[in-house]
Amino acid sequence: MREDLPIILCVVGARPNFMKIAPIMRELKNPEYGVSACLLHTGQHYDTAMKQSFFEQLEIPEPDMDLGVGSGSHAQQTAEIMKRFEPILDELKPAAVLVVGDVNSTIACALVAAKKSVPVLHVEAGLRSGDRSMPEEINRILTDQLSELLFITERTAEGNLLREGITADKIKFCGNVMIDSLYYNLSKAIDARLILDEFDVERYGLVTLHRPSNVDDAVTLERLLDTLLSISRELPLVLPLHPRTQRVIEDFGFSDYLDSPNLIALPPQGYFEMLGLMKDAEVVLTDSGGIQEETTALGVPCLTLRENTERPITLVQGTNTLVGSDPEKIRGCFDELMRGGGKAGRVPEYWDGAAAPRIAEHLQRWAHRS
Ligand code: UD1
Repeated sequence: MREDLPIILCVVGARPNFMKIAPIMRELKNPEYGVSACLLHTGQHYDTAMKQSFFEQLEIPEPDMDLGVGSGSHAQQTAEIMKRFEPILDELKPAAVLVVGDVNSTIACALVAAKKSVPVLHVEAGLRSGDRSMPEEINRILTDQLSELLFITERTAEGNLLREGITADKIKFCGNVMIDSLYYNLSKAIDARLILDEFDVERYGLVTLHRPSNVDDAVTLERLLDTLLSISRELPLVLPLHPRTQRVIEDFGFSDYLDSPNLIALPPQGYFEMLGLMKDAEVVLTDSGGIQEETTALGVPCLTLRENTERPITLVQGTNTLVGSDPEKIRGCFDELMRGGGKAGRVPEYWDGAAAPRIAEHLQRWAHRS
């Protein structure tokens, strides 16, 4: 860290943050920007599979600070991050705090910084699902209200922000840093055949499921597992299981589903492994935000197991279709996709691997404004 330069304190906490921060940290190392980037990990995600393997594969420098907060209820987790973040801000006195995405670590650090008059810079601002029952939607709205510069990934985000009273001068359309990571690492994707070599599959669909709205209620989860089981008789399905999904499947007594030879459960996968699995999948079924974008960039059909999305460009321009959690709708869309091959889609504007340099240029101008 160079203390003679304005310090940009970059925050990460959970898995989807890591692929967003990697290209920003890499770019800000360039001395031409005249800032000193320093990295703080809140410790929201801490397992090797949820954190360390991503740091290594994405070449993210070891965090300068780790708050080690771990898991808890939303209130506990957010409060704990805030308590542990405050003294660091006091000591470091950064020129700005840069947060990415919409996880609890994002809002917790943004809130502490804003109350201490430290400017907040938000990467991936302005996305809205319109669904406030999603914890991430609350995190997004509040973080944007607290931010001084808002870097957006798609143009619809600008309208969302203007409607919420944010002025146009703060909004910067720079593209999608998650897609920077995708292009940077695509050649290192691990071949799906290697990952699946002990299973007898040629063609497969990839499934990820972890949203509370899909996995926390036994009736909803069982309906989804039934639907996946029925689909898997036609196309084997590979399911890398998020720890919370693994836990609820066991707690609800649904482990039998995973004994089916066509529903292949895997532990959480690394980034290179996920790229490989996504790239070669015939279809991806997911409730993740990031995977909707990654499949659009890869041109792989995606069925999103949610009623709404904060990433509408993936529907309008990309390969994504919203199918919700109704078994008939999911099955119907899957059958149609198998018959017709799914949406062709195109890669959205500025999802070109150069979002981080655009962000860094704005940051340089902002940090050295008079
Ligand atoms: C968080 C984000 C979500 C993101 C997801 C990606 C919020 C509100 N949600 O949800 O937007 O899509 O990350 O994974 O911030 N656990 C482990 N090991 C870990 C971390 C978590 O086993 O390293 C387990 C714990 O049982 C924990 C549970 O996963 O209670 C949930 O973790 P948490 O960080 O609360 O939220 P996610 O569901 O991962």
